[in-house]
Amino acid sequence: MDSTLALATEGYAWLPDLWRRRQGPLVRTRLLGRRAVVLRGVDAVGFFYDERHVQRRTALPDPVVATLFGHGAVHTLDGAAHRTRKALFTHLLSDADDVSALTDEVTAAWDAAVPDWADRAEVVFFDEASVVLTRAVTRWAGVPEGDEAETRALAADLVAMVDGFATLGPRHWRARRARARQEARLAELVEAVRARDAAAPEGSALAAVAAHRDADGAPLSARVAAVELLNVLRPTVAVSWFAAFAAHALHRWPEHRAELADPAYAHAFADEVRRFYPFAPFVAGHAVDDLTWRGEPIAAGTLVLLDLYGQNHDPALWDEPYTFRPARFTGRATDPDALVPQGGGDPATGHRCPGEPVTRALLAALAGRLAALPYELPDQDLTIPLTRIPTRPRDAIRLHVPKPAA
Ligand code: HEM
Repeated sequence: MDSTLALATEGYAWLPDLWRRRQGPLVRTRLLGRRAVVLRGVDAVGFFYDERHVQRRTALPDPVVATLFGHGAVHTLDGAAHRTRKALFTHLLSDADDVSALTDEVTAAWDAAVPDWADRAEVVFFDEASVVLTRAVTRWAGVPEGDEAETRALAADLVAMVDGFATLGPRHWRARRARARQEARLAELVEAVRARDAAAPEGSALAAVAAHRDADGAPLSARVAAVELLNVLRPTVAVSWFAAFAAHALHRWPEHRAELADPAYAHAFADEVRRFYPFAPFVAGHAVDDLTWRGEPIAAGTLVLLDLYGQNHDPALWDEPYTFRPARFTGRATDPDALVPQGGGDPATGHRCPGEPVTRALLAALAGRLAALPYELPDQDLTIPLTRIPTRPRDAIRLHVPKPAA
């Protein structure tokens, strides 16, 4: 049966539904008229990320590329071209100093923003987190900073690019317009840097995309350089989704609040937020050859899905997967191919997210700061609709921050 309609109407519940009805180590279905199989599990991650098995670039629908990633992005490459481009990101994002420099920008932007929240009747936490993250990541990336209104407009565009990738409704067209606007603006900036009409701080993401050379030795076109700069800015601002989920978790299970002062616990809390809440549903590619997975044939050309959300809730990997329990990540190492909210495999050679260390650090820092902030949640809709991709609490976490006593 073709599952395209089920994906559109059931969202995150689509794959769990299929798994419940399955027999055997994979699920077979059809998507957009094509044969598809769904995999999950630690070994499935190794199988899926092996380039001899699955090719990624052919399985990205244009509506996703035109909103979320950008045409010509690292996500759309395979093989040697991918590895050379990927080094641009791993170089910028894997070093502990880079991670802490970005985290410091985020905490500084948070500390500067929060006093104003007390002057307002109410703030929408998701929106304010996106502005804090935008201000911080533009500074860190070496992108000239705009005034308050420009930062808010950029934050709204970066959020829109994520919010509109999995729908063909108005959110999608807003995402395309946001991307076109920001690609044009940042391509001009890259051109100005190359012409020495604008400065790019040494070691910054702006300097790196302007100077990067691909596997063929050629520099990136200004537009693809802008696409890759956006592939640093946009997902950093997407940490707002996890920040809103962290606020949701602190409301539902306030017993974690006190422990968040401990940085090790804050990282465990960040990992549990990334595991527990729905964000990236799955990743996909095409079988490059006739394959066999645990005795099951997969014909060449079949669409292969790795069920990220499902794997993060697989009872074979997680004890009581639908219980929110940061302690599952304290005092022991987790197999990186078990916890896959940002993909699996080796980030240096495969498509796994190079922003995972940054995401954990930012989320731990934001959750710690939020837990220390006195605030109330006015009456609001805290439900998280699983039919919407990407989803978030319906009212995006409205907060009232009382004025500090004089
Ligand atoms: C909000 C939290 C984030 C989530 C949920 C997330 C999720 C993902 C996922 C699912 C992938 C695809 C993995 C695959 O194709 O196998 C990915 C790739 C990627 N992410 Fe993230 N990510 C996040 C944060 C970040 C950050 C903070 C950065 C950079 C600052 C980043 C940069 C990238 C890049 C450049 C890729 C493409 C990698 C490639 O194709 O080789 N992400 N991310």
